[in-house]
Amino acid sequence: MLLHGNFPVLIFALTLLGQVHTGKVFGGHEAVPHSRPYMALMEVTNDNHSKQCDGFLLNEDFVMTAAHCQAKSYKILLGVHNFFKQTDVQTLTAGQAFPHEKYNATTFQNDIMLLKLTSKAKFTTSVKPIALADKDDITLPTSCLVSGWGQTNRENNLNSYVLMEVNVTLIHNKISNENNVYCSEGDHGPGGGDSGGPLVCSDGKAYGVVSAGKQSRPYVYKYTKIPDNREWIDNIMKYN
Ligand SMILES: *[C@@H]1O[C@H](CO)[C@@H](O)[C@H](O)[C@H]1NC(C)=O
Ligand SMILES: *[C@@H]1O[C@H](CO)[C@@H](O)[C@H](O)[C@H]1NC(C)=O
Ligand SMILES: *[C@@H]1O[C@H](CO)[C@@H](O)[C@H](O)[C@H]1NC(C)=O
Repeated sequence: MLLHGNFPVLIFALTLLGQVHTGKVFGGHEAVPHSRPYMALMEVTNDNHSKQCDGFLLNEDFVMTAAHCQAKSYKILLGVHNFFKQTDVQTLTAGQAFPHEKYNATTFQNDIMLLKLTSKAKFTTSVKPIALADKDDITLPTSCLVSGWGQTNRENNLNSYVLMEVNVTLIHNKISNENNVYCSEGDHGPGGGDSGGPLVCSDGKAYGVVSAGKQSRPYVYKYTKIPDNREWIDNIMKYN
């Protein structure tokens, strides 16, 4: 079932300069509840305006998301499957945000951000971290999956209140080469509100962060490469 995107925590794609901030899963199916215990549902707020992003848990202190989700405050929900049936959900906030220093809001290059939680996440059966792809995991992974609470239909701006997931196949193309991102193509993929979620590949590691996309056919979805940013990530987590 779907919700109107203006519901406080469930907001949808923002269109900016011909790119859509992805945040929804198109053509996917409902995830088995709590099968992706690293997923974080986030409400990010600037002044009086909130929008939805996704994120994923790296350890008890850090959540990773997209730099275009940067805001003044972050409400981070861990252990959610159905937004309306929250049991044992951990509601946390971020104290410090570390957007990539070279994030470019026009091109969406380096669209990656780390959030340090103000209190530690507690690991449970429905809250667990995900491992990141290593610096040398550079071969193009083929079978990957994206999950999120974002928009499920291009015809409206409704987000999903249950966690959805969709399989995607990565491609090589001009956009991905120029922007140093992974890309997938086709009608199925992340949508508005899935921003900041992980691209998880067959070895179970996170390889990418859901970034922006091209919103006309053929649809292209971009994911910030995690292997390229491992040093940046490891340094922030080590020194903060
Ligand atoms: C936010 O809402 C408050 C109270 O309604 C209002 O006074 C303030 O001007 C608003 N701020 C912005 C930036 O819209
Ligand atoms: C972002 O990228 C555009 C296009 O390559 C470039 O013109 C602009 O200077 C960049 N902005 C920043 C802040 O680096
Ligand atoms: C979807 O992707 C996941 C992660 O790579 C993989 O384990 C699974 O087998 C894929 N499912 C299908 C139907 O391709």
